Amino acid sequence: MNAAIGNSSPDRSIVLVGLMGSGKSAIGRRLAARIGMDFVDADAEIEKAAGLSIGDIFEVHGEQAFRDGERRVIARLLAGPAHVLATGGGAFMDEETRAKIGARAFSVWLRADFDVLLRRVSRRDNRPLLKVDNKEEVLRRLIEERYPIYEEADIIVQSRDGPHEETVNEVIAALKRLTADADGAPARDQAK
Ligand code: S3P
Repeated sequence: MNAAIGNSSPDRSIVLVGLMGSGKSAIGRRLAARIGMDFVDADAEIEKAAGLSIGDIFEVHGEQAFRDGERRVIARLLAGPAHVLATGGGAFMDEETRAKIGARAFSVWLRADFDVLLRRVSRRDNRPLLKVDNKEEVLRRLIEERYPIYEEADIIVQSRDGPHEETVNEVIAALKRLTADADGAPARDQAK
């Protein structure tokens, strides 16, 4: 796949999933640089395809139209050359998208605790789902709804407030273990 993380396993994209504020773009960009793959941000691609910002898509066309566009754009990206892809927080909730990611990519859930997420999403006010009086309530609900699904990701890495490079190191280590498994090497057994 990629000399930095594995060897002969198929050429798969690496897809970052997780809630808003979990660090998918920041970690994804650094991960891509470290392992020598291209980085793509799904939200930016959706904006490009629509010629509108995410906020305007929600406002003018509604959330359902955004979700349809998101599904189409991610399917197109996954059909192309392997890359590191940061997805919007709702993307992995879509069954079709989840199945495509499962078939063509390795998924990485950046799991973050409520307090960390709240602090990070409070810094900016550009997310349509969080343009509400009670961000805490929305975040808690999204954690409840989405974490059981995010758990289906191939790899789960805790996203903390420390240096990004530490999180990237953890993702790379987990990818190495996963690709060693995929190649048939008994990586888990060796670790016992
Ligand atoms: C969303 C997350 C956003 C963006 C849209 C909807 C979600 O992306 O796709 O506002 O449903 O969680 P980020 O997770 O990159 O903020």
